[in-house]
Amino acid sequence: MELAEVVDRHRVIVCLGSGGVGKTTTSAAIAVRAALAGRRTLCLTIDPAKRLANSLGLSELSDEEQRIDPAVFCEHGLECNGSLSAMMLDMKHTFDALVTRHATSEAQRNRILDNRIYQYVSTSLAGTQEYMAMEKLHAVHKDPRFDFIVLDTPPTTNALDFLDAPQKLVGAIDSPVMRWFVEQLEGKRGIGLLGKGAAYVLRGLSRFTGAEFLDHVGQFVTDVNELFGGFRDRAQAVYDDLRSDDVGFLIVTSPSPLSVAEAVYFSKKLGDYGIDPQGVVVNRVHRAGPAPDADTRAALEARLSEAQDTAGLVQRVEQAAADARSLAERDQEGVRRLRKHVGADMSYTEVPALSQDVHDLSALARVGEHLMGAMTEVSP
Ligand SMILES: Nc1ncnc2c1ncn2[C@@H]1O[C@H](COP(=O)(O)OP(=O)(O)OP(=O)(O)O)[C@@H](O)[C@H]1O
Ligand SMILES: [Mg+2]
Repeated sequence: MELAEVVDRHRVIVCLGSGGVGKTTTSAAIAVRAALAGRRTLCLTIDPAKRLANSLGLSELSDEEQRIDPAVFCEHGLECNGSLSAMMLDMKHTFDALVTRHATSEAQRNRILDNRIYQYVSTSLAGTQEYMAMEKLHAVHKDPRFDFIVLDTPPTTNALDFLDAPQKLVGAIDSPVMRWFVEQLEGKRGIGLLGKGAAYVLRGLSRFTGAEFLDHVGQFVTDVNELFGGFRDRAQAVYDDLRSDDVGFLIVTSPSPLSVAEAVYFSKKLGDYGIDPQGVVVNRVHRAGPAPDADTRAALEARLSEAQDTAGLVQRVEQAAADARSLAERDQEGVRRLRKHVGADMSYTEVPALSQDVHDLSALARVGEHLMGAMTEVSP
């Protein structure tokens, strides 16, 4: 199946992959491409490069999606037949919105938001960013204003971090802190017996001491406990979302041996969670032409004849061409390994290594063409 078909068939596309492989670029390019083709598209992105954020209209950090002015497409010679909105995922905003949604009163909401333990947990706990990406997906999954959503994901070292995030986070807020608090109050045990999660939280909080600290923990635990049913149900709903038929997963990878190994591991882990990826995007693939024949070599020598060390120069040019070819061969080997180990029954799409970073709408549209072919038909 072609990637264009995968994109057409799903309401939500999630781009997963290890650090720096091109998840944000791929997500944005798919979103731009879908918007050009007529879909009302939302791109949920994480920490995009500043220039890319600007070109997506995300110059100000906000938890609200921002619609990209159709005029911006025109400036880049593009005709947008649908619409494109983008939102930069920000953990703190998303976490705050979650608390606001589940708080039973304004006073309770403010108490939690102002609580220093909460402020630490909501910004620093491992897995929070992953959880927030999932949480946001849940929030917009059924939003009638959009018919297509692309979710970028944070760099994770393995798929487990990402998929376990809802459970992990709930677990971290739940038992260890609670247990610790109860134990302190009862005066029975010391910090040495704490679970790992609580110890982590406590290390980050070491600047608070004594009664002040206990006050914060006490208030936090009481309030969060009241909200907790809401959090737990929510985490389950977020998790269920991942398995719905209209959500498709793409693994983004580079063709280098290390990235390929990670992508293979990733796809296996997804499988363990009962999720089949729909496609693999192999980004930054190097391509090289054939070795120069005798005529090309002669032409090169003629061109360089005025230079002093013609033979040396020709040799260097040839060496560069040979290096480019071996890089291209290595990349093709990477693609072969992916097909072999991730499975052949899904879409594989190669995007060439471009000579420049991908930081504006025209560049995204170009990557979009590599991903999904040239625009053929356009919805009215
Ligand atoms: N095909 C390409 N050719 C040239 N440059 C590219 C290509 N794809 C991505 N880039 C550039 O590589 C850099 C990293 O890409 P990107 O931010 O999309 O990766 P990421 O996987 O989202 O990274 P992170 O894991 O840090 O979130 C960016 O500067 C981007 O413009
Ligand atoms: Mg990124």
